[in-house]
Amino acid sequence: MSWFTRTVTASVGKKYVMALTGLVLGAFLLVHAAGNTTILLGRSAFLSYAGHLHAFDFALVAIEFLLLAIFLAHVVTGLVLFMQNMWARPERYAVNNNAGGRTWGSATMPYTGIIVFLFILLHLYNFNFIAPGAVIADVVAEVLGSPLYTVLYGIGLAALALHISHGFWSLFQSAGINHPKYDRFIKACAWVIGGLIIAVFGIIVVMLLVNSNLLT
Ligand code: HEM
Repeated sequence: MSWFTRTVTASVGKKYVMALTGLVLGAFLLVHAAGNTTILLGRSAFLSYAGHLHAFDFALVAIEFLLLAIFLAHVVTGLVLFMQNMWARPERYAVNNNAGGRTWGSATMPYTGIIVFLFILLHLYNFNFIAPGAVIADVVAEVLGSPLYTVLYGIGLAALALHISHGFWSLFQSAGINHPKYDRFIKACAWVIGGLIIAVFGIIVVMLLVNSNLLT
């Protein structure tokens, strides 16, 4: 077995895979949230942003496939860790997952993960597989103008906030940065980052519901 295969299949290796892939997915969310703030500036700003994004269509498709691979690695490794945890093998984790105590975030990690996964499927269906010729601003306005979708997006975002809050904390655990001196600070940062990402998305969702003319 190669060094790489041995590392990735070991429990601690899986934690590294979770941490690294989670970091990339978090970075994507930051960029995605920042890009989406153009919605708050109105139709032409959002369409100009979307147009610039799609000006690099070939690179965009390559990035989308890379993102999908990273996302799948995160989901599959997370499920394997969850199963191992359930079977409670003595060598479960080389790094203690709950060193900071059991929190809402840590206790619900697999479930918030599943909700976020379902949310992303719905989200891709909404915005990535749109009818040929449809204008993305109209699609976003129509989907997020509906109270049902506001609720569904609210549930997805709440699950995402909990997931990120523990994921960010776990990242430092996996990296071995868990001195009691810094633990409270890391936990506070986890909540601030999770809260900030969700606040930006949440404001956009609410604004699209209350102001139906925002993207017209
Ligand atoms: C206010 C909330 C959100 C809005 C308005 C929004 C809007 C969009 C739009 C318009 C696209 C299609 C981009 C394109 O033209 O190719 C997209 C793609 C995507 N969104 Fe969101 N999004 C939101 C929140 C989220 C959240 C919370 C997540 C993750 C949990 C997410 C994950 C994704 C992914 C994975 C893609 C596909 C990536 C790609 O095509 O490059 N989005 N979103």
